[in-house]
Amino acid sequence: MPTSSDILDRVLVMEMVRVTEAAAISAANLICRGDEKASYAAAVEAMRAALNKLEICGTVVIGEGERDEAPMLYIGEKVGCGCEGEDPAIDIALDPLEGTTITAKAGANALAVLAIAEQGNLLNAPDVYMDKLAVGPGYSDGIIDLNKSVTENVSAVAKEKCVKPSDIMVCVLDRPRHDKIIAELRGIGCGIMLIPDGDVAGVISTTDEDTTVDMYMGSGGAPEGVLAAAALRCVGGQFKGRLLFRNDDERQRAYKWGIEDLDKIYDLKELAKGDVIFAATGVTHGSLLEGVKKLRGGTMTTESVVMRASSGTVRWVKSEHRNN
Ligand code: FBP
Repeated sequence: MPTSSDILDRVLVMEMVRVTEAAAISAANLICRGDEKASYAAAVEAMRAALNKLEICGTVVIGEGERDEAPMLYIGEKVGCGCEGEDPAIDIALDPLEGTTITAKAGANALAVLAIAEQGNLLNAPDVYMDKLAVGPGYSDGIIDLNKSVTENVSAVAKEKCVKPSDIMVCVLDRPRHDKIIAELRGIGCGIMLIPDGDVAGVISTTDEDTTVDMYMGSGGAPEGVLAAAALRCVGGQFKGRLLFRNDDERQRAYKWGIEDLDKIYDLKELAKGDVIFAATGVTHGSLLEGVKKLRGGTMTTESVVMRASSGTVRWVKSEHRNN
């Protein structure tokens, strides 16, 4: 009997790339058309069709909303054409188009992204905000702490990096709700990379020295937090997340998904446990991946990354697609 990590490794690594490629290509047909809904719908439909070709018994645990809110890839939807008891039973967190506004405006870092794990190993995060704090690999455990101030967190990272706090670069979503964080960072002289959208790529940028980003801070979607955590499980780094609730309806949703402690601070392994595969394909150009390109004659090229937690393997996949 294969273990779950055998199953994830052998069968699914490259299959996941096919799925994110399909979503990215479909969304890319609508880059810079100003129609967020259309590009999103195209990505959802393509991702679902690609998932349904796989011999898996998949369950969407992070998707496009609840059954009554989303026609496709809703939370709880079964995907794949596998046979129960024979084919791998896996949970799937997905975002067919992470960066709908980016895509509509042809900005940077829109991705088609998903993560898979053995059943029960991805946090069923409700669609609320999450306070996020991330740092790349190589720091001592527990160096970042959501209960500490911006200055304390930056100073701790600067100390271990043997630089001044003003040498630290922090990535933050450009939102009015982050004005306080930004003011505190400016106060200690940090570099701030303000991104308009796309915090999955923002968090992952802390793991790539080329981006010069040391830390990620601020709130964004909780589902995106689980996806980013899955990526960091594979490549290293630390992530802390705390769900943020704006009203009782959001709190009720959390209870519905079995979350009892609403103030809990989640660590990487509480967001994405066990063996995890994370895959992403660039839709628009970005710090992580090139976007989809259309060549003369109709061929399309994609760039993707697929990673696995249990091996730490990261594969960069460049593909040419004909007959689209
Ligand atoms: P969408 O692709 O759903 O538009 O999400 C883009 C995004 O920027 C995420 O990366 C981020 O987590 C979230 O939106 C932030 O939410 P808000 O736009 O409400 O600040």
